[in-house]
Amino acid sequence: MTQQPLTVCGSKNIYLDHNATTPTNAEISNSIGDWSKIWGNPSSIHWNGREPKALIRDSRKQIANLINVNPIEIVFTSSGSEANNHALCGALLDLIKKKPNRKKVITTTVEHPSVSKTLNFLEDLLNLNIIKIPVNKKGELDLKFFKSVLDQEVALVTVMSANNETGSCFPIQELCLESQKIGALFHTDAVQTLGKMPIDLKLLGVDLASFSAHKFYANRGCGFLYVKSGTPLESFIHGGSQERGRRAGTENLMGILSAAKMAKYKEEIPFQCDKMSSLRDHLESSILKSINGTEIIGGSVDRLPNTSCITFHGVNGESLLMSLDIEGFSVSSGAACSSGNPEPSPILMAMGLSHQEAQSSLRVSIGWTTTKMELDKFVTTLIKVVKRLREVSQ
Ligand SMILES: Cc1ncc(COP(=O)(O)O)c(C=O)c1O
Repeated sequence: MTQQPLTVCGSKNIYLDHNATTPTNAEISNSIGDWSKIWGNPSSIHWNGREPKALIRDSRKQIANLINVNPIEIVFTSSGSEANNHALCGALLDLIKKKPNRKKVITTTVEHPSVSKTLNFLEDLLNLNIIKIPVNKKGELDLKFFKSVLDQEVALVTVMSANNETGSCFPIQELCLESQKIGALFHTDAVQTLGKMPIDLKLLGVDLASFSAHKFYANRGCGFLYVKSGTPLESFIHGGSQERGRRAGTENLMGILSAAKMAKYKEEIPFQCDKMSSLRDHLESSILKSINGTEIIGGSVDRLPNTSCITFHGVNGESLLMSLDIEGFSVSSGAACSSGNPEPSPILMAMGLSHQEAQSSLRVSIGWTTTKMELDKFVTTLIKVVKRLREVSQ
């Protein structure tokens, strides 16, 4: 371990929703005051531009090292959503001009809306043909289908590295290799992977990859896009020359510094992954042992070490979430952006779960600071709440 153990801003409640966002590393919260005093514009050539400019340069190097790429291949963005929008709009707007015969885009049925809705928008705008690879109930991608639709008309393939709701991981290296063989670009939404698996993009070989700082104990409002050198990509925000002209706008220095601070935790990631996966296994076996009619979605496939998606048959997921909230536990029923929406998760439905099964499912996502004691308290409360909800629904 090269770093001090991570500590985060405390709370009396128990936070088990790390796929929605992560608590801020206390080292970052304690630095914010000092960082806010660095107010110069990094584009200024006089003295007060020099310090922020140097800090951004150093941060870019640290973040590049975190994912094993070159610093010039990093474009800072405002979020993972922007990184996904930039990758898809930027690549497809360029490709449609240079390779007008390539009109197909391959994706999956379970992408985050920042990918799926951007593709819907581009489908109409550029007259594209979007093909979605099905994902089964276990969370596995239909590789046979993927191979059957891959041909010389494909411009781009975009497949998430890990799903935000079930944690299932897709075989990115294999999909990327196959896609590049036929001359298509390959993008992955890797937002859920930072801090949950070691990342080596050189080894993976992808052309474009999206990340978000707030999923890795840094500030909200900062993301980054990896663009492999030589990848054709239109600028996303036009105006100034920031980010080599790809994304105009004065930089979010505090967000960038916070992301760079987390990059220093690279060596600790494998250790934290092992710790989270044994805690996750402990949580799942405790739940399965003590509550009848429960099922782990995607439990048998390769998945993130921190995510459990659990169906509680005969229980409404929203009611369960709200009851747990009252008891001081934060979990999620579907993507954070769709919470409060009575419709069940479209991702679980796309995987073939029934309306009722999807509506009875809950996502628990643990983090680097989660303890066994917190999980044991959670299970004790869960047993009580599930029992009560099942009784009232009879
Ligand atoms: C898989 C995935 N992609 C993209 C995003 C969007 O990231 P951000 O919240 O930084 O816009 C999320 C957020 O939950 C996500 O889970």
